[in-house]
Amino acid sequence: MWPSLQLLSILLAVPVAVFACEGECIVGITHAFVGNYSNPIQSVLHEIDNQIIERIVPQHDGMSYLQPILTAYTNSSYDGMETAIFPSYFHGKCQVNGVDPKGCPNPDCPVVCGTPGSLVHFYPTLRFIAFNETREAMRLYTSSDSEAYRQVEHDVVRAAGKQARAAVPRFARYGDDVAGVMGENMPYVKKREESAKKALREILDEIPDLLAKACGGSAKDSVDGLPSCSWDAAMQEYILSFP
Ligand SMILES: *[C@@H]1O[C@H](CO)[C@@H](O)[C@H](O)[C@H]1NC(C)=O
Ligand SMILES: *[C@@H]1O[C@H](CO)[C@@H](O)[C@H](O)[C@H]1NC(C)=O
Ligand SMILES: *[C@@H]1O[C@H](CO)[C@@H](O)[C@H](O)[C@H]1NC(C)=O
Repeated sequence: MWPSLQLLSILLAVPVAVFACEGECIVGITHAFVGNYSNPIQSVLHEIDNQIIERIVPQHDGMSYLQPILTAYTNSSYDGMETAIFPSYFHGKCQVNGVDPKGCPNPDCPVVCGTPGSLVHFYPTLRFIAFNETREAMRLYTSSDSEAYRQVEHDVVRAAGKQARAAVPRFARYGDDVAGVMGENMPYVKKREESAKKALREILDEIPDLLAKACGGSAKDSVDGLPSCSWDAAMQEYILSFP
């Protein structure tokens, strides 16, 4: 009797399942990169917050104006990272003409494929993929058409407008008609809101460069790239802990 199609597919799938980075391996490595990036992301957002406070509006209630961006990033960073690393770059068998090259599948496989050994061999590329994905995600959530950006812009512009309106009565002299002074100064408030919007855009546009700086520079796929976002010893040991 022929084996059932289901059994056949299990039999055929076994050798791949044993040597490929799947399931726990994919989840673990993705979490490791997302988790390690939380430090550089936090330091970049901290710097951006400081610039907003210095250049545009005072801090309010000890809260960060950037919370909506951090929330959007946190919500989606895992999925983006998994896709960028795994199916997009590391996937498939390592065999060349049906033969496993030296070092494959593990621990140091010079063929781009879906095994821990391949991730270790191409670590400079893996490190750059993780950086690039993080930078692109931040760019996406700070772009002018993102919901998170609109929320931040709304809060910052409102705070700037409030500050400008609070300053207006100081222009009024004793005995002036305050409502009249407010009306005359509406263009001033509008101008302050417009310049807050423009300054916010300029500040957020620095994020990609600030992230590269937080990672030690050299943001490219090279052996000496991203020295502060490499974590190579710990990461490679962790990657090879998967069979
Ligand atoms: C980066 O991730 C690896 C693997 O999870 C871990 O061993 C290491 O401590 C992390 N490093 C930092 C700085 O978070
Ligand atoms: C979180 O992500 C899911 C899908 O990835 C999306 O539907 C949801 O709107 C997001 N929530 C926030 C707060 O961004
Ligand atoms: C950088 O990341 C984006 C988003 O994931 C992707 O579309 C692009 O191809 C990546 N570029 C490189 C050079 O990896």
